[in-house]
Amino acid sequence: MTSGTAVQHPSRQLASGAHIPIIGLGTFGSDRYGSAEVSAATAGAIEAGYRLIDCAAVYGNEAEIGAVLEAAFDQVAPREDFFVMSKVWNDAHRPADAVASVERSLRDLRVDHLDAVFPHWPFPNHHPPGADGDDRDPQARPYEHERFMDLWSALEALVDQGLIRHLGTSNMTIPKLELVLRDAKIRPELNEMELHPSFQQPELFRFCLDHGIQPIGYSPLGSPSRPARDRSSEDVVDIDDPVVARIAQDHQVHPALICLKWAVARGQIPIPFSVKPRQLEANLAAVLTDPLTPAELEALRSTDRNSRLIKGQVFLWPGATSWLDLWDVDGTIPGWNGYGSILEHASPRSASAQEARKRPC
Ligand SMILES: NC(=O)c1ccc[n+]([C@@H]2O[C@H](COP(=O)([O-])OP(=O)(O)OC[C@H]3O[C@@H](n4cnc5c(N)ncnc54)[C@H](OP(=O)(O)O)[C@@H]3O)[C@@H](O)[C@H]2O)c1
Repeated sequence: MTSGTAVQHPSRQLASGAHIPIIGLGTFGSDRYGSAEVSAATAGAIEAGYRLIDCAAVYGNEAEIGAVLEAAFDQVAPREDFFVMSKVWNDAHRPADAVASVERSLRDLRVDHLDAVFPHWPFPNHHPPGADGDDRDPQARPYEHERFMDLWSALEALVDQGLIRHLGTSNMTIPKLELVLRDAKIRPELNEMELHPSFQQPELFRFCLDHGIQPIGYSPLGSPSRPARDRSSEDVVDIDDPVVARIAQDHQVHPALICLKWAVARGQIPIPFSVKPRQLEANLAAVLTDPLTPAELEALRSTDRNSRLIKGQVFLWPGATSWLDLWDVDGTIPGWNGYGSILEHASPRSASAQEARKRPC
């Protein structure tokens, strides 16, 4: 690793006043790229100028990325120039397990603090690495707010100890976020959510901005290399969208780069993944140069097809029938009756929903 290639690129300000780069590097190998490839890509990305790295315990590569980070802090730029994020996987929601997960991420990533930590999903529902789309966890349950807040409190304690700087949520919905904002001692400052031109989530995006939560856009290119379990015949391919393609032609760039220019102009922080040096460099350059015009941004608004790619069906509980239940699409959080079916769809603010959430699993 060579020193001195730092690229000064703009940052965004979080609610607490801290700064975060406008683009980051994803590190999920999509069951396709192993930890050696992903960590080598991370080293190349840091040399190219990336300073925000989106990690997760479940990606299985934090130890290899940690070796890269340690060398980078020594040879490329000081620790304080980086924003290193990690996530607690769904099998570690119990407070003691969450603490152990963060401690392991700290050790593996070779850092004395994490800039942000997210519960990866709001459900303690597990799937084994490499699961296929039909895999289900028989112990899976709908969202239980009290349990989630137990996890959140454990993470808050790690903030108080200086091991975590900022907390974030991931794969959340407005009803769930309303509850977290109501009950959290330390509010989420970030929300990692799927965002690309064909899936713009305008209501949740607006909700986040209105509540001082910075959206982090995952799968910003439409995740063309995602695992088979996350593919279905109705999925829209962002880089083939005619509006995206036309604007790409006008700018003489790959359509993927238009997705990133759009993301940064709209206000989310995209975290594209790649193991290919040319793509990594092009992705960073795309958000620093040649911005889209207001007319192009307006045209891209019309490409929203509500096409969620990461549907999360492997996290469904016994008795649930549709992945839509994970996303509270009717504005309510499904409850659990303990007998393998959904009890009700109730407003999170209603008394019956409060009751449903209290029932033991
Ligand atoms: N919080 C969550 O639950 C969650 C869920 C999903 C993802 N994430 C995070 O978000 C990151 C990014 O999402 P993602 O990996 O699903 O999807 P993505 O970034 O939308 O797509 C990555 C793929 O796009 C292709 N690509 C990258 N740059 C390109 C370019 N300049 N031109 C053409 N193709 C390009 C590469 O395909 P090839 O491999 O063919 O080169 C790469 O594998 C992940 O790595 C992870 O950190 C978080």
